[in-house]
Amino acid sequence: MKLAVIGHPIKHSKSPIIHNHWLAQNNIKGSYEAIDINPDNFENEIMGMMNDGFDGFNITIPFKTNIIDLCDDVDDAAQKIGAVNTVHIKNKKLYGYNTDAYGFIENIKSSKPAFDFKNKTAMVLGAGGAANAILYGLIQSGVKKIYLTNRTQSKAAVLQSMAHDIIDVIAWDAYEEKFNETDILINTTALGMVGHPDLTPTLDGLKQGALVTDIVYNPLYTSLLQNAKEKQYQYVTGIGMLAYQAQKAFEIWTGTLPVIDNALMEQL
Ligand code: ATR
Repeated sequence: MKLAVIGHPIKHSKSPIIHNHWLAQNNIKGSYEAIDINPDNFENEIMGMMNDGFDGFNITIPFKTNIIDLCDDVDDAAQKIGAVNTVHIKNKKLYGYNTDAYGFIENIKSSKPAFDFKNKTAMVLGAGGAANAILYGLIQSGVKKIYLTNRTQSKAAVLQSMAHDIIDVIAWDAYEEKFNETDILINTTALGMVGHPDLTPTLDGLKQGALVTDIVYNPLYTSLLQNAKEKQYQYVTGIGMLAYQAQKAFEIWTGTLPVIDNALMEQL
């Protein structure tokens, strides 16, 4: 099995650790490498990988959207999200998938099995690529309402088109006003990540028993999550989303759903 992750830059990717762990654990002969692709030569590089006998690859920044046009077919998630993060190559054809929404939802489900998305109200902070996948995952999981807010409101308005009846765009400087309706609060912005300012809503007024989660995992315990913990809300860290999106990708390529065990998580 010849696998890879492509991006630009790519050297900080943790995906090789995850997939090489699973290849070994499942006795599958093969390799998963990180490949830096020159954006000016994107199409040729992809064709080159096909000719080199790759079975599949993950795609990260900045190629998740560009790859769609090169795919022979894409799944519903990738189509609705407008981004592909996993490609399976079969008979010289490229099949595109998006496993980010699965990764987000499964991370919450595995950490908080009692949390049921059905009929819940979610609040999504941020409107970049990750928010797009998370909105899709939330809608598929049956939430009844999503408050979406972003510093640049026009970007939130674009994402709203995924489901006008469910997504309500609210102002970035007033999102805390909707905390009293919020069952799950999700940070998809870069705020809280090393090198970025912190996200510091007081969380006062958030519904009792609400769940707070962050897609930032460096640091693992962001100021938002620390705050949630102190205020005794449920919270889920972001690293699991990475592991679960990888789990689905590995299954697409190999037919085996790999386990996410402590031996793996300790390496991430
Ligand atoms: P992606 O790669 O996921 O598309 P991005 O474009 O880098 O991500 O943006 C990530 C998110 O973090 C965006 O919602 C961005 O808000 P803007 O759309 O207004 O840029 C948000 N973000 C980054 N820095 C921020 C800051 N200092 N304050 C508020 N939001 C910020």
